[in-house]
Amino acid sequence: MRFLLIFGVAIGGLLSACAQQPGYQLHPYDYTTEKNITVPNGAVVSAHPLASQAGVLILQQGGNAVDAAIATQLALAVVYPGAGNIGGGGFLVAHLKNGKNITIDYRETAPAKATRDMYLDSAGNPITQLSLDGHLAAGVPGTIAGLFASHKYGKLPFSKLIDPAIQLAEKGYVITAQEAKNLNDTRNEFLKLNTAPTAFVKDIPWKAGDTLVQPELAHTLRLVQEKGMAGFYEGETADKIVAEMQRGHGIMTLADLKNYTAKERTALTFQYKGKTIVTMPLPSSGGICLQQMMMMVENYPIGKWGFQSPEAMQLMVEVERRAYADRAEFLGDPDFVKVPVSKLLQPAYLKQRMADYQPGKAGNSDQTKAGLIKESEQTTHLSIMDKEGNAVAVTTTLNGHYGSRTVVGKAGFLLNNEMDDFSVKPGVPNMYGLVGTEANAIAPGKRMLSSMTPTIVLQNNTPIYSLGTPGGSTIITSVFQTLLNSLEFGLSPEDAVNKPKFHHQWLPDVVYVETGFNEASIQALEAMGYKVVKRGPIGRTELIRKNLSSKKLEAAADKRGDDSAAGY
Ligand code: DON
Repeated sequence: MRFLLIFGVAIGGLLSACAQQPGYQLHPYDYTTEKNITVPNGAVVSAHPLASQAGVLILQQGGNAVDAAIATQLALAVVYPGAGNIGGGGFLVAHLKNGKNITIDYRETAPAKATRDMYLDSAGNPITQLSLDGHLAAGVPGTIAGLFASHKYGKLPFSKLIDPAIQLAEKGYVITAQEAKNLNDTRNEFLKLNTAPTAFVKDIPWKAGDTLVQPELAHTLRLVQEKGMAGFYEGETADKIVAEMQRGHGIMTLADLKNYTAKERTALTFQYKGKTIVTMPLPSSGGICLQQMMMMVENYPIGKWGFQSPEAMQLMVEVERRAYADRAEFLGDPDFVKVPVSKLLQPAYLKQRMADYQPGKAGNSDQTKAGLIKESEQTTHLSIMDKEGNAVAVTTTLNGHYGSRTVVGKAGFLLNNEMDDFSVKPGVPNMYGLVGTEANAIAPGKRMLSSMTPTIVLQNNTPIYSLGTPGGSTIITSVFQTLLNSLEFGLSPEDAVNKPKFHHQWLPDVVYVETGFNEASIQALEAMGYKVVKRGPIGRTELIRKNLSSKKLEAAADKRGDDSAAGY
């Protein structure tokens, strides 16, 4: 795919900024997507070609994978505004060359004025629009704090890492057909949910090849470049966020912003057939559910049954059902609720969970009212490996499509609608159809439960996979499938990522399959008693494999979007 240079006047500054650097250059007016690459030194795979290239630029300037992850995320905040962000939050999982595994939690928090029932009407019924649209839907953004917390493990100055993003925002970049469609589809909501003009709305429809310039965002990024975290959480930007809240009846305050902290948490690690899986602990449910599912399949000959065989699919559906049921019941922010993590991960407990598994016969979930899964692509994942042996996996999000669709006036960035990831009322499904209980109820300062599952696989302490995906509730099952596709079914990185996926999340009690899923497998599942529902794309998985024989990095960018790999 090629996005054409329309006119190149404004770009001179950016090209000359990059021209001093060897190797990679950013060409924001003329770039292509690369779906699969094999490279010797370093690789970055993300949702946008320019963001992947910004990461490689940093690797080539002597930065490590953590530096590249910071630069890539900041570039995504510009070139992939629907999900890349500075107004949202995320998780970073990394394996460092010194052998240490780290995770950084920069999940948004509920503002201090948030209350448990803030999205219920006087009769106690949920007003779901309030947790999804506009000012009240936003949690306190964590991304900038997370990037600075990550920077402790980087090598280059932060001011250098933010530079590509500033240039892209200031000079603009050519948008893809998909981005043009997304902006056009969201136009009415942008108009409805904003109190000031935004760069995302123009008089005539967007089309592929148009240039998106974001001077207000560039100014905000420059403040961060000059003042560090205070450039976002204090002073001019914080004032703009609070003024925006006041105009739109939001509740976030200067104190909420100043008090926000990213947290370093102990990585969740477990063994799977001689490999070590390193993944995200709470407040993501992803790591716990992934470990539960991997442990529940471990004792079955799933590899022998084969990729998408009825036996393998049924087993995977049944372990997914059980893990998601536990998620709904038990999981929430561990700083606020007691979660029985070790019990949930005990082999004996998981064996017991599978006691009623009947090969060839569909299980069933309790009949609880639950909503349909809304399809959305507004989270994003990036994977990076460098030549030093560092591997990074980051999943970052605004939650829904362009988050709350509210841009902070004159600051140029979108706020998240992550508050919807809380359980607004026990048993009431959120936008992904996920239900929860008290464990994930709203409380001031609390982090809402996530499904984001950035994951790294080690063999003899060497990172061999870095992967993750967006997709709301389907994130965990997509990472699970991609891992089994690789480790059990022997698929190439390209196939592990791109072959059609399926999903079960306990409630609703259906097996979702992507359009194009093979009919024989669907019929086999239906014959066992499963209800199968076809839906749109599941996930947009990014994966890097280190091939231990060739010593090369093989990066695969999901074909479901504009995702692109870069490397050298
Ligand atoms: O943290 C979570 O689990 C969700 N906010 C992720 C949202 C997402 O993946 C949207 N993209 N499809």
